[in-house]
Order: sequence, then structure tokens, then C-alpha cells
Amino acid sequence: MADRYLSFTGTTPGRFLTRRLGLPQPTALHRWSAEHPYFTGELLHLSAGKSPLDGPDGLAAVLGRTGLAVRARSERPVAVVLDATGVTDIDTLAEVHAALHPVVRSVARSGRVIVLGAPLGTADHHQAAVQQALEGFVRSLGKEIGRGITVTLLRLTDANAAESTLRFLLSPKSAYVSGQVIGIGGGAEVTAPADWALPLAGRTALVTGAARGIGEAVAATLARDGARVVCLDVPGAAVELDSVAGRLGGTALPLDITAPDAGARILAALPSEGLDVLVHNAGITRDRRLVNMALERWSSVLDVNLASVLRTTDALLSAGGLATGGRIVATASIAGLAGNAGQTNYAASKAGVAGLVRALAPNAAAEHGVTVNAVAPGFIETKMTAAVPLFIREAGRRMNSLGQGGLPVDVAETTAWLAHPASGGVNGQVVRVCGQSLLGA
Ligand code: NAI
Repeated sequence: MADRYLSFTGTTPGRFLTRRLGLPQPTALHRWSAEHPYFTGELLHLSAGKSPLDGPDGLAAVLGRTGLAVRARSERPVAVVLDATGVTDIDTLAEVHAALHPVVRSVARSGRVIVLGAPLGTADHHQAAVQQALEGFVRSLGKEIGRGITVTLLRLTDANAAESTLRFLLSPKSAYVSGQVIGIGGGAEVTAPADWALPLAGRTALVTGAARGIGEAVAATLARDGARVVCLDVPGAAVELDSVAGRLGGTALPLDITAPDAGARILAALPSEGLDVLVHNAGITRDRRLVNMALERWSSVLDVNLASVLRTTDALLSAGGLATGGRIVATASIAGLAGNAGQTNYAASKAGVAGLVRALAPNAAAEHGVTVNAVAPGFIETKMTAAVPLFIREAGRRMNSLGQGGLPVDVAETTAWLAHPASGGVNGQVVRVCGQSLLGA
């Protein structure tokens, strides 16, 4: 179901009327397209405190490779990167205000503000306080800046390990990711691709629930990035699945992911080199308040959304089905992080996915060279959300900093970034793709 309000506010009379009535004015977001794959314009590079990322092969060199014109001053930047890794006390924290206060108004529509912070966990409580302060700062700026601009905090110690992340955040691919805190470091090996436009060339990716919706978009985006895709969905969706796989030059694997032998059947369907990217996207809802929820509704949701993710992950990892440098991306949900009336089963399953990701990530990286992360979508325009009653749908669309729902491709682009060979430093993260939804932190 199209977002007619967003289309209306994009017209001159629509803008005039909604402004007069004091209604929200969402900005049409700039997303990736083959014609306009990158931002063009200036990137304003600022800093607060003495940055440990400076140096000949440091942050400036990485930013220079994003294709944007890096400047120390800009009248109309499309992106601002504020390096606050050197913020250690109240005085250097004040430099964050001093740097951004004069420039926030000049950032272009659908642009980016990225704040770089140091990892938490320092013993110095002054430094810990001001580094944690950056989270409140970034989340508040994301809520107030408007005009489709996203604001993100990236914690890092090595700019080179963050290159795929910076390229993602500084591109139209991250249009619906805002208000997030992403940590880089301590993961698996970081491998720069031979061709940044085809980072998954020669790699095989399996996507569950690929016959439609978000899974179909994930398969298409990974195929765009060069992967051979194996598209898995229930046998009942075989016709749609064949059509998706055929269009993407991939293969279809009709299989119910809850089958006890699903892991073995996936392994049998893979090329001998195994899998490079495993995307656990299949998911179902069976909503009822707990008082009215029969056991079957509980078990079916837990089985598809969590138990099968645990089973197939274990089966593939223990059989060596994921190649070194592999990536696992699971699908959580903001409902799982924030909780939602009528969704005790669904939220339990999706919170469980986040728990699985955080616990498995360090072990999978150490033992298999594989990273494990999750995407947590917010309100995404799919058949599932089109079926939601109008009033609740409108609330879901507007109750986020960007004032609109996301598209399946927004989740797909985030998945592709996590699947990237140079994203080895991103591990154990649960990244919300929710336009900074008001639900949950
Ligand atoms: P969808 O219902 O359009 O697609 C899900 C796909 O998974 C379907 O093709 C379905 O046949 C498949 N599937 C279900 N059970 C399966 C099984 N046992 N074995 C194999 N395949 C199975 O859903 P949508 O909206 O594309 O969601 C995809 C994922 O994103 C799900 O995990 C969902 O929970 C999650 N999500 C979606 C949000 C949204 O706003 N659409 C928000 C938050 C999370």
C-alpha cells in the first residue's frame, strides 16, 4: 500500500497545506539506484579533541575513498563526519557542540551526520561519561534534525576496519538507518574486495523466506552485489520462489526451515565450498494477547523465528558449511527489542535472535572466522504491514524520526553491508533499520 501522505507532502500544494496545518512533513529519502548509486557533493570532516584516528593512512584517507569531496569547511555538505574519538572530558565534549552547532542547519536534505566515538569500557570514568554522552547527543540530534537527515554514532579504533561501514553510512543505501550506535572491532578478518561495486563476487548467499517481501529484496540486493543466491522458502511458495530465483540467476530451495533435517538439506544443496552468507529472514507472526494465546501460536512462532535459526546455524557451523570469512545475518525486530501488546510470542522470538547473535558472535569469529549480526526492522512497507488496520499503520509510519515507513530494500541494503567482506570488524551488532522509531531505545 503506497504512502499517499508522503507523496502528497512532496508536492508544492501538499507542502503548503501540511505546513499551515502543522502536520508532519516527511522528506522523500534519497535511496540507491543504478543511475544514482552515490551521494555527490561535499563531506565536511570535523573533529573534537585530539583524535587517535589522525595519521597518513587514517580516517582522512578512508573518507577520501568514499567519492565525496572532503572539506574542512562547506556551505552545503551532503554529509558531516565529526570525529569525537578524542573526546575525553567535559571540555572536549564541548567541542562537539562547537563543531556541530554552526553547521547542522546547512546539511543537505536526506544527508548524513556521523559522529565517531571511542569504544566504551575505559577505566577512566570521565572519559566513559563523555563517550556515553555521545549516545544521548546523537539520538537527540536524530530526533530533531529533520529533512530526512540521518544521525549515527560509530565506535571505532581503526578507520580502515570501518571502511565498508563508512561507505554504507555515507551512501544512499543507509537512508532508513538513523539513531543507531554501531561498534566496530574485535570481529573477524577484514578483506577489501577487488571491486567495491561487486563486493560479493564469487560468493554464495542463502536467504530464507526469499519468495517475497524483505527476503526477496535481500536476495536481489546480494545478487546485485555479485553473490550467487540460493533462495529458500516453504514448498507452498514454490512458484513465487522459482520466479525470484530465476530473475536473479540463482537457485530455488523449497524447504520448510522448521523441518528437523533442514540443516542437512541446506548443506546438500550447497556448492562444495559451502556458504559465504547465511541470511535468516523467514519469519511469521501469530498475534494474540497472552491470555488468549493457544500453545500452537506460541510454538509455531518460536519454531520458525528462533528455534530453526538456532538449529540451522548450529548444523551449518558444526559441519563447516560456512566458509572462513562467512557472514550470518539474522532478522530481529524492534518489536522484539521494545515489546508489543499481542506479540509476546513474536517479541520473545526476536529478542531471542538478538541474544543468539550477541553470544555467538565472538565464538563464531574466533573458531570459524565468521561474523554474526542482526538487523532489526521497524515499520517496513510489505504485504504484512499493508494488512495492518489503517490507523495503526499510519501510526507505525509516522512514529519515527523520518516520518515514514521503510522499504524492504532498506533492510536489504543493511544486510548487504553486514555481508560485505570488508565488514569483518562488525560483529555481534543488532542494527535497527527503523528510521529511529520511537519504539524502544
Ligand atoms: P513476509 O511474510 O512477507 O515474508 C516472510 C517469508 O518467510 C514468506 O515468503 C514465508 O513463506 C517465509 N516463511 C515463513 N515460514 C517459513 C518456513 N517455515 N520456512 C521457510 N520459509 C518460511 O514477511 P516480511 O515482512 O518480508 O518479513 C521478513 C522478516 O522480517 C521476518 O522475519 C519478519 O519477522 C521481519 N520483520 C518484518 C517487519 C515488517 O515491518 N515487515 C518488521 C520487523 C521484522
